Amino acid sequence: MTGNVLGVSAYYHDSAAALVRSGQIVAAAQEERLSRKKHDPRFPKRAINYCLGEAFIDPSELDAVVFYDNPLLTLDRVLKNAVSVAPRGRDEFVAASRALLGPKARLMDDLEAILGEKPRLLVTHHHMAHAASCFYPSPFEEAAILTIDAVGEWATCALGFGRGTQFELIQEIRYPHSLGLLYSAFTYYCGFKVNSGEYKLMGLAPYGQPRYAGIIREKLIDVREDGSFQLDTTYFGYLDRQLMINEDFETLFGGPARKPETAITRREMDLAASVQLVTEEIILKLVAHVTKLTGTKKLAMAGGVALNCVANGRVLRESGLEGLFIQPAAGDAGGALGAALLASHQLFGAPRATAGKGDGLRGSYLGPRFESHEVEAFLDRQSAPHQRVEDGDERARVVAEALSNGKVVGHFSGRMEFGPRALGARSILGDPRRRDMQSMMNLKIKHRESFRPFAPAVLAEKAGEYFELDEASPYMLLVAPVKKQRRIPMERPVFEHDDMLPTVNQPRSDIPAVTHVDYSARVQTVTGEWHQEFRAILSAFYEKTGCPVLINTSFNVRGEPIVCTPQDAYRCFMRTEMDLLVLEDYLLWKGEQPAWSGNGDRMNEYELD
Ligand SMILES: [Fe+2]
Repeated sequence: MTGNVLGVSAYYHDSAAALVRSGQIVAAAQEERLSRKKHDPRFPKRAINYCLGEAFIDPSELDAVVFYDNPLLTLDRVLKNAVSVAPRGRDEFVAASRALLGPKARLMDDLEAILGEKPRLLVTHHHMAHAASCFYPSPFEEAAILTIDAVGEWATCALGFGRGTQFELIQEIRYPHSLGLLYSAFTYYCGFKVNSGEYKLMGLAPYGQPRYAGIIREKLIDVREDGSFQLDTTYFGYLDRQLMINEDFETLFGGPARKPETAITRREMDLAASVQLVTEEIILKLVAHVTKLTGTKKLAMAGGVALNCVANGRVLRESGLEGLFIQPAAGDAGGALGAALLASHQLFGAPRATAGKGDGLRGSYLGPRFESHEVEAFLDRQSAPHQRVEDGDERARVVAEALSNGKVVGHFSGRMEFGPRALGARSILGDPRRRDMQSMMNLKIKHRESFRPFAPAVLAEKAGEYFELDEASPYMLLVAPVKKQRRIPMERPVFEHDDMLPTVNQPRSDIPAVTHVDYSARVQTVTGEWHQEFRAILSAFYEKTGCPVLINTSFNVRGEPIVCTPQDAYRCFMRTEMDLLVLEDYLLWKGEQPAWSGNGDRMNEYELD
């Protein structure tokens, strides 16, 4: 008996649920997509409800519920930290204790309220859940494991080794020494939101020069040859106050933090470049160490820092690995999946069907899907003019034609992605060849900062013609250089501009909208194995234009979670300057839609209250 196992991560940020049966992933979803509250940290009742429905099981058929970390160990850290900094840190201690003794203490009550009975509840360690989330779905029978995040209980980084259905964590780096917290400190200092703005900092880095890297290495973090590190905590605020940094940090870098939404200056660009460089150096050392320690050149990675796809690209190019697998839901949402996989394999003895074959994530399309009759019922209620095009190839041709004419297309098709990246199921697509597409899509569609780059999806077999990338990158977690012959020299080096827009609008290659200012791109290679409709659009665009690349950005606007339902998609379509919306096999043109009143027809079958 291998059991139905529900994994849960909650109460910190990015709550999620995942259901695993006999070692196979049945469903996984982040609560934010269903509740429409970005990074929703609450108990994931909607996601749990969805997972049970997807698996067609009653709560009584659950063999175990596994929570993704151990609140008692976290409490131990908070108490010991409070003693070490006393009498300072009172507010930090009170806030952390409240968080721990409040919601987390109610875990069993929350579970009972949704399941109707007390389940068999297990807890795992935070980094065990991260490790399980990347090792078990990886295609490797045997692999080194590296998890890096801000902190989970005591650990901030763990090194391990897995074989078959077993793995162990061999070494760890402990709080307060944390690469994730170092990166978040600079995220905060540069005026972005901690726990979500790290991506912006990474996107900003290529505009700058790493002129602060020396100070970071000299003053903030002492890195040893094996990649282990110690922070000088006297520059940080997270130990004894509820802040990332303190006045000494500000003095070290010559002034106060940038206020959010104010102009980004040369200083922020250079700070971003500096902390990015130091982060890459540390990750490369850790990878070298863990592969040496375990005697294998295959590596599985997870933890929030594993979402740093610029660093991942360097690992792939410079570490001499024979295989690299990164969990796409590398942050704490993926902990729910790891927790469920861990119990399924180690407690219930489920085999790993994927080891040695493809990966077990099925393209990460693990969330809700909507049938045509559900879409049609919504469109009729909304009185939204639409055409049904049932033939997938014909639909792809219409979409490709629109894209080649400069139209921006919302693509809603199949099961929603698990993890922060949209991979074609909930994506906005555009023509990457157009010079003005990056700033146009940022400002008119995504309502976000114009400097932020877009990512390309490319027909897998054509990737080598555009990017210096020999490996598959199905989860858009690797940044690779654009091929030299496709580049266009820029008139002035990027760091000579203080305003970023002149740089953004310079042509950089024959696919400028997905070529970052350092000639890099965050690539998704598409085989069609798990999403034929998305593949068909890329193929039709290639047939029409000779270009096998499209812009693929997540289907949402700034500050909003990626859309989940047809209603979410329609609302986002109507609130932006998108031209065409694909809802499964229905096509909706903006020009034919009635005026948007702003009222969403909210229907969410997973909504409980
Ligand atoms: Fe984590």
